[in-house]
Amino acid sequence: MCGIVGYVGKREAYPILIKGLHRLEYRGYDSAGVAVVSSGGSLNVYKCRGKVCDLENYTKDKDVSGTVGIGHTRWATHGEPNDVNAHPHYSESKNIALIHNGIIENYAVLKDALIENGYTFQSCTDTEVLVQLIEYIKSTTGVSLFEAVQAALKRVVGAYAIAVIEKGNYDEIIAARKSSPLVVGVGDGEFFLASDATPIVEYTDKVVYINDGEMARINRHKPLKVVTLDNQEAEIGIEKLEMSISQLEKGGYPHFMLKEIHEQPRTIVDCIRGRVTPDGENVVLSGVLANKEKFLNARRIIFVACGTSWHAALIGEHLIEDMCRIPVEVEYASEFRYRNPVIYPDDVVIAVSQSGETADTLAAVEVAKQNGAFIFGICNVVGSSIARATDSGAYIHVGPEIGVASTKAFTGQVTVMAMVAMTLAKEKGIMSQDEFREVAKGLQALPSLVSQALKLDEQILDLSKMFTYAHNFIYLGRGYNYPAALEGALKLKEISYIHAEGYPAAEMKHGPIALIDSEMPVVVLATANNIYDKTVSNIQEIKARGGRIIAVVSENDTRVKDIADYCITVPAAPECLMPVVVSVPLQLLAYYIAVHKGRDVDQPRNLAKSVTVE
Ligand code: M6R
Repeated sequence: MCGIVGYVGKREAYPILIKGLHRLEYRGYDSAGVAVVSSGGSLNVYKCRGKVCDLENYTKDKDVSGTVGIGHTRWATHGEPNDVNAHPHYSESKNIALIHNGIIENYAVLKDALIENGYTFQSCTDTEVLVQLIEYIKSTTGVSLFEAVQAALKRVVGAYAIAVIEKGNYDEIIAARKSSPLVVGVGDGEFFLASDATPIVEYTDKVVYINDGEMARINRHKPLKVVTLDNQEAEIGIEKLEMSISQLEKGGYPHFMLKEIHEQPRTIVDCIRGRVTPDGENVVLSGVLANKEKFLNARRIIFVACGTSWHAALIGEHLIEDMCRIPVEVEYASEFRYRNPVIYPDDVVIAVSQSGETADTLAAVEVAKQNGAFIFGICNVVGSSIARATDSGAYIHVGPEIGVASTKAFTGQVTVMAMVAMTLAKEKGIMSQDEFREVAKGLQALPSLVSQALKLDEQILDLSKMFTYAHNFIYLGRGYNYPAALEGALKLKEISYIHAEGYPAAEMKHGPIALIDSEMPVVVLATANNIYDKTVSNIQEIKARGGRIIAVVSENDTRVKDIADYCITVPAAPECLMPVVVSVPLQLLAYYIAVHKGRDVDQPRNLAKSVTVE
């Protein structure tokens, strides 16, 4: 939820920290701060409410010198976003500074104990308790900072990724993680630390992912040391980072979201590359094939996910039930983890997550694991916590997604799910080769179909101007298009702050139709499929009550064009892949409405890209 960055080496830390914070800003952007050990040995903390550029302004006349430092960009959990609650937090003596991503659940008990021992608190955060506890342990026992952090973390209940530095220590950062990601970049006589690899990529391609329950001593003069909280030495696996700087820049687009929408033809190519054979006769998804017995003998497949990934999972349910005749359930990870779900050892649980760091999804994976299910991950971020926690998986390979509103990850997830379903259907022998080939050819054609849909950009820009006034929106779809309608509504609400709801079109008459009047824009996904006629009837019902209909239709449509107020025409794909195609105009519509409303499209209020707290 928050972004953590650190540097220790021979260069000035501050510019590296600021650049890193800009890269991590998508993780949280209500306040930011840095702590640097200056060349004179003092430990300077600078922090303020607002974005990283506000922090830069604030530090203009400050001493930010020093070759070791930590930085933080915050998404508030405990305590409102203000200067005092921003990280880093000082200890009582101001000798130690700490940044934290996560939640310390037992902070109140620890805080009371520290107050009894004379400690005073400046902020309302759980984080300040941890830095005070570290100082208390260090000062009362005389141990090193590393040992004090280790002892403090043993007393902590909750989730954390932390980085700690100390006055007078030019050489060292202590870091630790539990349920929140941390990665160390290994340079020549220097180290980088971050919540994800984006701040590291321009300095080194050698990274070490810190595992859950591990802590690291990052000392510029010594080899990296990683141990568990019980001081068991952990193996250090240096991995090569597959990421380029251009993927992290806007590339001429005004927003990452628009860039990511337009990247989709290429990201889908990357997603299917080497998986769909050129002749369209086969799909090779090694993570599925290597475990095909698990899938084929599965009592059920259960998807766990949140937000957009949950919408993609609903499409996965259609795909797998349709093609493979295996029963599928789709669960909100946040509900699944706490409701004592029935999970059988012969269930397959598929965790879907762009970031691979969503706390609820990770916890749902753990619950499923404890019950002996086989866990498969569909993630984007390589090496992420969920990707590492699963038994097997398939990456969506869409590259870094920076805009908070998920776009290319959604279409990548649906594409991978189609390939999972096809692989299983083929193994089960229940899909005719003709049907199989048709979907495979559809997958191969998807990049070009999405390119065609992107040509709607200007039409949708014009259309969006007419709906900037709206306070509410309804999105409707049926079958495969129903989850796409939910996703369209989510896109609009999260970046434009317009209230929007998605429904299965036929459910309208069971209540929501009462909302329809001449002020209500209704986006209906009415592309050609076996229930097209039913959808047309649903549109008539809305039209009869004065709703303003924006219909997404297929090229050869005739009937809806006569009823709808506005039509958006998309190219045809196999029905099961239509959610990918129809999503493009919905993404653009949300984007342009938000732009007209002057919203902060890439960093909408109250949100953060990956939700690593409950
Ligand atoms: O990284 P994940 O896919 O696990 O994230 C899940 C949701 O937090 C995410 O999809 C969220 O709903 C997005 N902001 C949607 O655009």
